[in-house]
This record gives sequence, structure tokens and C-alpha cells, in this order.
Amino acid sequence: MTDHVPVERLAKLAAEVLNSAYAPYSRFRVGAALEAESGEVFTGCNVENASYGLTICAERAALAAAVARGHAGFRRLVVATEGDRAVAPCGACRQVLAEFGTGLEVFSVAKKESLRWSLEDLIPSVFKLAVTDE
Ligand code: THU
Repeated sequence: MTDHVPVERLAKLAAEVLNSAYAPYSRFRVGAALEAESGEVFTGCNVENASYGLTICAERAALAAAVARGHAGFRRLVVATEGDRAVAPCGACRQVLAEFGTGLEVFSVAKKESLRWSLEDLIPSVFKLAVTDE
């Protein structure tokens, strides 16, 4: 495991990938940088669709990129948006991130505000499937 990446570095990566967002419908661009336990960082942006409900959030895009590279444990997530106020990740993203543990530190950075939570605070009663081995 490598040292933690400075949170400012994660915020910079999240703000950079926001420029790749595909958000012609909402015009609300979101970038996310997810630090794996290995210290590697994976980024994602929101990808909207004409069938609005099929939109992929930045957080889930970053998570999918990390999982595709074999990661299943994560330390920190930084979400970047362009407005004045920081936004909290949507409920769907909270549930999807929680699949890999609720110890994740979540940051959100905007022009005039930065917020921090633990994923456990954001989703205190996560849905878990009791899978039985047969
Ligand atoms: N969005 C994200 O990317 N992450 C969130 O946590 C909330 C919302 C995106 C989805 C959509 O493209 C736009 O923001 C407006 O909802």
C-alpha cells in the first residue's frame, strides 16, 4: 500500500475529469476521483442519456473504472462540481459505493464550499443481501 494521496490532489483530478462530463440535459457537470486502498486513483464523470433515468453519475463511473482494474477496497472519494455549494452524492451512488464498505471518506468540493462525510453517515442503513453458500 502506498501513502495517501493528498486530498487536494484528488480534488484536482476530480475537477479535471469534470471537463469530460457528458451533461447536455442538466448542464450539471460532475467529476469524481476515487482512491483505492493501493493508493491508485480512478476518475469518472457523469454520462447523461436522452432516456434520463439511464444517466450514470460520476461517482459510479469512477467506481466502475476502479473495479474493472481489480480494486475492491477504497479509502477516499472526492466529488467536484462547479456551483458555489458542495453537493452530497445521490442515494443510488451511496448504495453502490457501500457495497465495498462504509468506511469510505467522502469529500465534495465546489467554488465556495467543501464538505466531508464518512459513507456510513451518508447511508446508515445500507441494504445488504445475505448470500448463502450452497
Ligand atoms: N449526478 C452525479 O454525477 N452525481 C451525483 O451524486 C448526483 C447527480 C449527475 C447526474 C446528472 O447527470 C446530473 O448530475 C444532474 O442530476
